[in-house]
Amino acid sequence: MLQSDCMSTEELRTVWWEDGAVCLIDQRILPHQHVIVRCRTLAEVAQAIKTMQVRGAPAIGCTAAYGMALVAQSSSADSSTALLDELARAKALLDAQRPTAVNLAWATTRMLQHAQQSPAGDVAALRARMLAEAHVILAEDLAMCHAIGAHGVALIPKRGHVLTHCNAGGLATAGYGTALAPLRTAHDQGRSLHVYVDETRPFLQGARLTAWELQQAGIDQTLITDNMAGDLMRRGAIDCVIVGADRIVANGDVANKIGTYTLAVLANAHNLPFFVAAPSSTIDLALASGDEIPIEERDAGEVTHLGGRPIAPAGVAAAHPAFDITPHILITAIITEQGVVTAPFADKLRRIATHKTSGS
Ligand code: MRU
Repeated sequence: MLQSDCMSTEELRTVWWEDGAVCLIDQRILPHQHVIVRCRTLAEVAQAIKTMQVRGAPAIGCTAAYGMALVAQSSSADSSTALLDELARAKALLDAQRPTAVNLAWATTRMLQHAQQSPAGDVAALRARMLAEAHVILAEDLAMCHAIGAHGVALIPKRGHVLTHCNAGGLATAGYGTALAPLRTAHDQGRSLHVYVDETRPFLQGARLTAWELQQAGIDQTLITDNMAGDLMRRGAIDCVIVGADRIVANGDVANKIGTYTLAVLANAHNLPFFVAAPSSTIDLALASGDEIPIEERDAGEVTHLGGRPIAPAGVAAAHPAFDITPHILITAIITEQGVVTAPFADKLRRIATHKTSGS
């Protein structure tokens, strides 16, 4: 995996294909260092997903799609059947890296199905098809984010004070973001707004990534620690909450970054709207309720240490569930690229999921 410094001022790309490599911006060290990671093997792509060099459900999906394309490009298989077997093994490896964000398996399933539909016997055509499909997935994700912005902007209160959690911005997607998309659109329309950014312990996606993205976009913000939200709500400083999602299941329950459920309960207690923004690739109709969503348990060292330094007594037991479940009853509306849906969610989510542009 090659790394190089890149303090370029041009618009930041999250995931792209260049010279036979899957390229990523290393999100573990942003915003202080801008380093491009070039993955030239499937193992490097899997590692980048696992270690969160790339993170955010849609960005993980796009990366996995390019990982599948990389396998097709670099394979020495001399028959379509052999290459399809290799791709199926690659899918299993990629899917295992992060279990909660369904966009990962959604993208690899779509890539594998696309491969299976390739004319039998033409390995060169199969290789080309895979790369083309990964490009399509990336382009579609960007378009979905812009559509989420266009649909969601009407929900953002005029001169509103909006709280967001984790990073559901351009870095978490092919660009523009999900939860940040309506805020960007409001800002682009000249509307004033103020964003409260949860720092998002323990990985600090809010402090490191969202704060940086909003700063780049020129959107007013205040960074807060995660335990400040309740007090701000009680004092009337917040008008609504908007977050992204890693998986939305059939009844409307949502998995998102740990701490999201706490915010939903707080918003409910203070009678504030709680919005979830996500593309249709995040909807998983195979699961009936949030109780069935696998929750990734990450290394407790990410809790006991901050920036590599210990912040707790050596040997202390610590827990690190990376996501939590917000029950649909706490959600005011779900913003997708196909429009805004409110409760009851089930039938509306089914229609949206079955009208996906393509894929499974
Ligand atoms: O662990 P992460 O950083 O991958 O978690 C990210 C989130 O929880 C985001 O809110 C979610 O993936 C939506 S990103 C558009």
